[in-house]
Amino acid sequence: MSDDATPIEPAATGKKGAYVDPITCIGCTLCTQVCPNVYEMQDDGKSKATNPSNDTEEKIQESIEACPVDAISWKES
Ligand code: F3S
Repeated sequence: MSDDATPIEPAATGKKGAYVDPITCIGCTLCTQVCPNVYEMQDDGKSKATNPSNDTEEKIQESIEACPVDAISWKES
């Protein structure tokens, strides 16, 4: 009978997007080939999701699966 229970809300804040773990990334560039609008290679030779949601979920999922070292994951924005 408590009225302070917080209702579970669906993610109301924006879309989910890609996140590249820079420690795991080996700079293979595959993600930038699958989703050039999402990832950019950095000067350190690692990829970064500079526009994490800038493609369809299907394409981003494809890029996540393309990474040979599983450096990419979903993150809620
Ligand atoms: Fe790095 Fe994986 Fe992309 S190794 S460059 S995050 S496909």
